[in-house]
Amino acid sequence: MPDGSTALRGDVVADALAGLLAPRKTLPAKLFYDAEGCRLFARITELPEYYLTRTELALLERIGPLVRPLVPERAAIVEYGAGSETKAAILLSALRRPAAYVPIDVAEAELKEGAARLGRRFPGLAVHPVSADFLAPFRLPASVDGMPRLGFFPGSTIGNLEPPTAIRFLRQVRQTLGAGALFLLGADLRKSPSVLLPAYDDAQGITAAFNRNVLVRLNREAGADFDLDGFSHRTVWNDQESRIEMHLVSRRAQTVHLGGRAIPFAEGETIHTENSYKHTAQRFLAIAEAAGWRGMQLWTDPDDLFSIHLLEAGEA
Ligand code: AVJ
Repeated sequence: MPDGSTALRGDVVADALAGLLAPRKTLPAKLFYDAEGCRLFARITELPEYYLTRTELALLERIGPLVRPLVPERAAIVEYGAGSETKAAILLSALRRPAAYVPIDVAEAELKEGAARLGRRFPGLAVHPVSADFLAPFRLPASVDGMPRLGFFPGSTIGNLEPPTAIRFLRQVRQTLGAGALFLLGADLRKSPSVLLPAYDDAQGITAAFNRNVLVRLNREAGADFDLDGFSHRTVWNDQESRIEMHLVSRRAQTVHLGGRAIPFAEGETIHTENSYKHTAQRFLAIAEAAGWRGMQLWTDPDDLFSIHLLEAGEA
């Protein structure tokens, strides 16, 4: 299964080979996000079919005044995967005198720039970027010791994780943030495939380019020889697993070389490149509870497209 759980900084060649030599070929979804992949993803967030980003932004704006009284004053905000300065700014504006902002991301340059911009915008806020894979355990900077903690994980990135991996991740967040912590988390919702499929297979073909870009990246960074016209984008709704899958389908029998290995493809064989789970709110809460969190509040938009959960750390 493609999953974000392997080391984000790990060797691209090793990661790709492990997936491509398996009987059912996969590539880890984290490989999407090179500079071009980030640029394509930014375009996806503006597509008419991709309702997630704009729905979450509007929901976050709306619930700001409701979140405000629930989060202690002078809290430290810890953002997992800080690709979304806009969302952090909305949250920080809603809170009562936030004391510190700790964004965690592997993209070090973007992380530092974003952190600096937020620091200028919120004078009096201590900004401590941590450049790390947020899926791996890390230590909070000592400067936030003793502050109340609020974790923040917008964007429905949790949906990329297999449920057991999501549980492990949520448990680790609870351990990192400690007793009494809160966690504000955005999660897309299960809905009709007639809405989901176009969101991952848009008319302009931006999602197709985003998917295929992983092959462009492997050609460049791993010396692979993928014929880009030899693979097409396919989006599948897996109802049983309640997830959107993205695949790259080999249009003919062909052999690709990567890292000194020959990788044979049959016509129609696919590389499974991403899962995006669409849990009901109830199912998501069961996952969070299995990781030791309690649901405190749940907000959705008027069309029930997207959810934001406020969770509270249970006893260790
Ligand atoms: C960034 C993981 C939330 O699953 O919707 C967008 C990535 N993939 N279009 C998602 C993505 C295809 C996105 N996440």
